[in-house]
Amino acid sequence: DSADKGEYRHYMLKEIYEQPKVVKATMEGRLTGTSVLEQALGTEAADLLENVRHVQIIACGTSYHAGMVARYWIEDLAGVPCSVEVASEYRYRKHVIQPDTLFLCISQSGETADTLAALRQAKQAGFRAALAICNVPGSSLVRESDLVIMTQAGPEIGVASTKAFTTQLTALLIFTLALARHNGLSTEKETEIVEAIHLLPGQVNDVLALDGEIEEMSKAFMDKNHSLFLGRGSQFPVAMEGALKLKEISYIHAEAYPAGELKHGPLALVDSEMPVVTVAPNNDLLEKLKSNLEEVRARGGELFVFADQDAGVKPEEGLHVMQIPSVHEITAPIVYTVPLQLLSYHVAVLKGTDVDQPRNLAKSVTVE
Ligand code: G6P
Repeated sequence: DSADKGEYRHYMLKEIYEQPKVVKATMEGRLTGTSVLEQALGTEAADLLENVRHVQIIACGTSYHAGMVARYWIEDLAGVPCSVEVASEYRYRKHVIQPDTLFLCISQSGETADTLAALRQAKQAGFRAALAICNVPGSSLVRESDLVIMTQAGPEIGVASTKAFTTQLTALLIFTLALARHNGLSTEKETEIVEAIHLLPGQVNDVLALDGEIEEMSKAFMDKNHSLFLGRGSQFPVAMEGALKLKEISYIHAEAYPAGELKHGPLALVDSEMPVVTVAPNNDLLEKLKSNLEEVRARGGELFVFADQDAGVKPEEGLHVMQIPSVHEITAPIVYTVPLQLLSYHVAVLKGTDVDQPRNLAKSVTVE
């Protein structure tokens, strides 16, 4: 057991550090230097993607957050409407199915009971096809789907999912580009994004190099009972995933909000006992995000901001800034996930919780 962990104290830390390698493995064979190899997604992929008019994503937990990021990509790059829902809700309500909808399940294990139940229902309901993004070959989800894109994360032991998430995002972005090709994405744009994907392993490595500083930062969370995570756009699901990680392994209550919703409630909770974590890449929402941060500062809230090095967010009293190397806006959710994983990990270690096996949680929820 300890041999499997190698030099690492926990599987979770080992799996966080494996991300440059497994993200790379997930792109392997699916991209050239400048474009997506659509045939690598399956022989029927081209025909299917040509006819998809809507995407319905279903997943649970961390995989659901991957689906939420994908919705931003699919609507932005492919211009195809996309809905995302947790499997446990979807399976128990009536829904209206648009013609030519692709049913897309995301699951690390491929054995989550609610996700499988939703898929089985969908197969009776008249979807165009079922696509799975999954990490376990031979799992029920893989066997029962029409088309499969395997993530190459390798076995994930830590209950809190890390490398499965970033490889799901990698696979989802490649899928999005293939779909976008059939929906008018220019060759130049495809090349720009494929080049950005190739940079990911190196960029994730750069973020891992901040581990020591993030460990230092984590001390501020140790004695806190609540925290707030903010993001905007495709970084909102990243904030949700960061909050989920902190809840799962450190047992600190963490809530994620789209930063623009601050004034509609959570601002009432902000005081010096409520650390506020924010992800701030350099995109066109940056200025709006900065004014959200001002609102938090004005109420005495302590801010922990992961910001693009060129974003001009400067440290000051009550505002801790961790500078992240500049990355492409589209791939930013993958890169900004990593510091939040490290933050939760270190808080949990400081609190002395069972990091790999948090109380009350299971790696795979195979019964309802
Ligand atoms: C459990 C795990 C989570 C995981 C979720 C969905 O809650 O603890 O880490 O995200 O199930 O699992 P799946 O295997 O379907 O991705």
